[in-house]
Amino acid sequence: MVSPLNPLLEEALPEKDETAGIQKPLRLLKHVPEDPVPLIELANHSIVSTRQFTAEQVVQLARLAAKHEAVPQQARRPLVGKILISAFYEPSTRTRLSFESAWHRLGGDIMSITDPATTGIAKGESYADVGEMLNNYGDLVVLRETNDKAIYQMMESLRIPIVNAGNGIEEHPTQALADMYTLFKWRPALMDKDIEKTKKARIGIIGVPANMRTVRSLLYMLALFHNSFEEVVIFCNEKQVFAEHQLENLTEMGLNIRISIDLNADLPSLDVIYINSIAWIGDDYKEYGQEYSLSKKSPIKKGAIVMHPLARGKELSTDLDNTPHNWYFAQARGAVFVRMALLTCLVQHNW
Ligand code: CP
Repeated sequence: MVSPLNPLLEEALPEKDETAGIQKPLRLLKHVPEDPVPLIELANHSIVSTRQFTAEQVVQLARLAAKHEAVPQQARRPLVGKILISAFYEPSTRTRLSFESAWHRLGGDIMSITDPATTGIAKGESYADVGEMLNNYGDLVVLRETNDKAIYQMMESLRIPIVNAGNGIEEHPTQALADMYTLFKWRPALMDKDIEKTKKARIGIIGVPANMRTVRSLLYMLALFHNSFEEVVIFCNEKQVFAEHQLENLTEMGLNIRISIDLNADLPSLDVIYINSIAWIGDDYKEYGQEYSLSKKSPIKKGAIVMHPLARGKELSTDLDNTPHNWYFAQARGAVFVRMALLTCLVQHNW
């Protein structure tokens, strides 16, 4: 599939093929034609779960993100005069700052809560009452909370859209969008409904689907594109790998999943390795998978990419940072453009 590109984009094409450059988003843009219709449906909606998205919406959000990444000089400022309420009741480096960066780049203003002790929640105020107040102060809320029910309670009274930036162990839908954007930049054919067999990918996920919100959300996104993934191998030696009905749901959606405990045996055949180790449990986090780690010495296939939602721990050696396997920094960088795309669609659909 080839769509006409504006001359500015063609001129911008550099010689060098690099993950942080603009060649990858340009390739994505060329691969898929623009279709604004699926995105119009997102206007004024809240985003709580990955399950709300269709494959068409994910592809078009990736395309819009690629436009923001490839030609930032063309970006308009559609959110001038709009206020983001950025409420992070749990620590975050990437999600909060990339949402705020995205909103700023779109021209909007921000009110940020970074310390739970500074709002009425610390005094026992209900999320529904806080939500009622937030209606008066801004145009969209981004919420991260360890309590997975908080977003639903806030939505009881909210009349402005809210985006889930991570609710306990349940979901992290915008991380999954950023993950898919990374995969589509790496191999645009993954977006094709009628993907050629040779273009399909085998992906390994080192993590615990039952307890890790990033992995849970990613698996649902992968299931939307199940035809593009030959196999999804989960590396986990926990007693409980999946939550109740999780595996059945994913399998019913068409995802071909296998569990393995022998990472090094499978690594040479994987095209993508997604690694994560942290899950929030209650008021604290737990590190999983100490026994699984990746480094330059791991038998990673030539051309394979490594992804990680970050923050990293011992499971991902820094000696991979300066290798072509490192797509985790590109993944974090791309999240800004994905969030720009999503926020534009949610707040207004005249992009
Ligand atoms: N990927 C991610 O959620 O990172 P932060 O915890 O830093 O937001």
